[in-house]
Amino acid sequence: MEFMTKWRGGLIAALLITPALMVGHASAHETLGLDAPKPQIALTPPMGWNSWNKFACNIDEARIRAVADAMAASGMKDAGYQYIVIDDCWQKDRAADGTIQADPERFPSGIKHLADYVHAKGLKFGLYSDAGAKTCGGRPGSAGYEFQDARTWASWGVDYVKYDWCYTGTRNAEAAYTLMAKALRASGRDIVFSICEWGDNKPAEWAAGPGHLWRTTGDIRDSWDKDEGYSHGFLWILDHNADLWKNSGPNQWNDPDMLEVGNGGMTDVEYRSHFSLWAMLAAPLIAGNDLSTMDKATLDVLTNKDVIAVDQDKLGQQGRRVSKNGDLEVWVRPLTGGDRAVVLFNRGAEAKTMSVDWEGLQLPAGMKATVKDLWSKQVTKGVKGGYSAEVAPHGVVMIRVTPMV
Ligand code: GLA
Repeated sequence: MEFMTKWRGGLIAALLITPALMVGHASAHETLGLDAPKPQIALTPPMGWNSWNKFACNIDEARIRAVADAMAASGMKDAGYQYIVIDDCWQKDRAADGTIQADPERFPSGIKHLADYVHAKGLKFGLYSDAGAKTCGGRPGSAGYEFQDARTWASWGVDYVKYDWCYTGTRNAEAAYTLMAKALRASGRDIVFSICEWGDNKPAEWAAGPGHLWRTTGDIRDSWDKDEGYSHGFLWILDHNADLWKNSGPNQWNDPDMLEVGNGGMTDVEYRSHFSLWAMLAAPLIAGNDLSTMDKATLDVLTNKDVIAVDQDKLGQQGRRVSKNGDLEVWVRPLTGGDRAVVLFNRGAEAKTMSVDWEGLQLPAGMKATVKDLWSKQVTKGVKGGYSAEVAPHGVVMIRVTPMV
């Protein structure tokens, strides 16, 4: 039954050829390599917005347009955000010829119309699908329809595809994602491919072939430290990404999942920590809040240009946790031109004074540096030996250290 569901797209073929041949055809097809090179369109981590964290399946075209309006008008676009991605539940069913159809009640004007609207704002447009028979939300998945779906999306103007892993049965993840990558590359449009198999199938070993970014972990939830089943608070996700820095680089990013900034489950101090550490992880910055109603504190976090510059640094080297002393952690990220980004992170409930010395940043002990605090914006010149600061509970002090020559 699972087999039948999985290969629903192959059913017509199954009527004409024997099941054995059909299996042979499918697996040979899936093991073919990637013909076309991966488009170089994610040389820095993608920035945008995705509907899932705030709205889940409660989406429609008016809502998406309102978010696109807000992205363009609020300063988000100027700060570098560009993709508007519709996650699960935009799909309804397939037409008789197999073409995927948007839910006509929620998207009466159709997806192409919406993509045109987003493009007219100078933004880019993305969609979600799944490598199984169904999406996680139970809508039609792309298994067996990979090339047809990729062509349809390209004809609508899709620039980004997030591809999930529900209802995939015993399917091989590398083969399934490679197949969709081939389909996207054959579609005639440059499309960012966001792999979402939650880190379950050793993506570090293969995902940089087909994908521009890949989820490393299960779903984030809007919480400092609450984990429930498959979804995890900020601290759990952070800890499970701390050692993955080797796998990441330009056009191939670890994805610790989308931002929860502004969704209400954490304080503004905690959201600053979340945003700062995502920048240290060179994470895709995909906002997950309602941009059309966000308050100024949320906008200020999401558009901190100095923190975004760390995330988007062209060297593309993911930061690391270089020390951990109970609740006190120091994270360092090397930047273009010899600068370092440093986060002093206090996970505890009391304010603490924390410090870092230049030797710990692999810089000469006697060096003088300019230090910019990326949240207070204070700049101090001629700083010798190291830097220390008081760090609020659950907070960060994030600095950029520029050696003085
Ligand atoms: C999975 C993904 C989420 C989201 C939902 C949609 O849980 O990991 O990011 O796309 O499916 O159903």
